[in-house]
Amino acid sequence: MVLRGNDAGDWTRPSPHQYPHQWNWDSAFISLGWATFDWPRACQELESMLAAQWWDGMVPHVHYDPRHLAQYFPGPDRWPRAQRHVRNAGQLTSGISNPPVLVTAAWLIGLRQSDQRLRHAFWRRVRPSLAKYVEYWGSARRGPGQPLPVMVHPWESGWDNSPRWDALRLSGLKPRQPYSRLDNRFVRASERPTDSDYDAYLALVEKLEDADFELERYRLDSPFCVHDVLLDATWYGAANDLNSICESLAEPPAVSGERLAEFAAAFEARHWDEAAQLYFDWDCRRQERIRTATAAGVAALAGGVAKPRRGRAAWRRYAQLCRDALAVCTVPPADPNFEPERYWRGPVWLNVNWLAVRGLEHIGLRAEAHALVSQSLGLVQEHGLAECFDPFDGSPLGAGGFSWSAALALDWLEG
Ligand code: SER
Repeated sequence: MVLRGNDAGDWTRPSPHQYPHQWNWDSAFISLGWATFDWPRACQELESMLAAQWWDGMVPHVHYDPRHLAQYFPGPDRWPRAQRHVRNAGQLTSGISNPPVLVTAAWLIGLRQSDQRLRHAFWRRVRPSLAKYVEYWGSARRGPGQPLPVMVHPWESGWDNSPRWDALRLSGLKPRQPYSRLDNRFVRASERPTDSDYDAYLALVEKLEDADFELERYRLDSPFCVHDVLLDATWYGAANDLNSICESLAEPPAVSGERLAEFAAAFEARHWDEAAQLYFDWDCRRQERIRTATAAGVAALAGGVAKPRRGRAAWRRYAQLCRDALAVCTVPPADPNFEPERYWRGPVWLNVNWLAVRGLEHIGLRAEAHALVSQSLGLVQEHGLAECFDPFDGSPLGAGGFSWSAALALDWLEG
């Protein structure tokens, strides 16, 4: 049983060796699996993540386990200023976040509990922290006159080396401090980001630290500030799910309908590309769309923000671009940046498929959603609970015994 094997006590490691700490959106997906057979443990997964929250509401992308600091790079020593922002003294965290799937997971976990008293008690406990997290994106991460949040690091997107962020890799940015990678010990280098990617990642960490995580200061000196299509859509879904939690508790909505409508209009204006019939990311520095087709545009349909007609067009267009590969291939095979084995540059990821399934349901493509669930479960049955999968033959890639692959398969099986 993968989840029990990776259980670290209050949270679940994404995999036994490669990722020894708690990751924000991993815990969100993982909690959905726990909720199918151990509901209190699912709540604990989310609440232990929220225990790492910052004063300003940010929930970090990594919550470090002090017992395993030597096993992962970068550790909290690369984020020294970050530690001063943590609400509960002593919790060790990174200084960036992740798409707020955590909020949606809290809503869905609650729905799995048939005892209303227990369900409401859980939502009452987490609602204030979730509301702060949603508000963090909507205030500290907003530029003037723009409702969409600014994403500041590829790790924050969760899609580290996606071709969407290649302008950063090509910028040649290098960190001041020397470093040694540890991520190639358990996974082959050909399945991981390159050294140029890592140089840029570490340089951005230094810039964020220099700016003490203030968006305006960071923006003055960084080439990487984007409106990530998936983060934006996830925020919209999170805001609606938070409102649903509030409504169930007979409390007023956390995010007004007016704000949601303004956000949805900005989402379409920034992300929809009429010529390509796809949703893309937006580069805030160059003030232009990043016209790189990846699965992020279809995973984003999960947020329920995209106009259904455009969502259907985007799904069909992307499926056509990837017609020779398994769904949902993260980069179309004909793209010059496609690398079938390298992390976010081609492989199939089950969290992307899970998001795409929700998106397909939102836009009324139920048969397609059903087919994607069957194909994804088939992948797991045949090739195991890998981190990701080869988009042609489904062979396992990355770390083995991967928690969110197990959790999302359970979520699908339980319906
Ligand atoms: N995804 C990163 C890694 O591979 C960290 O967020 O280590």
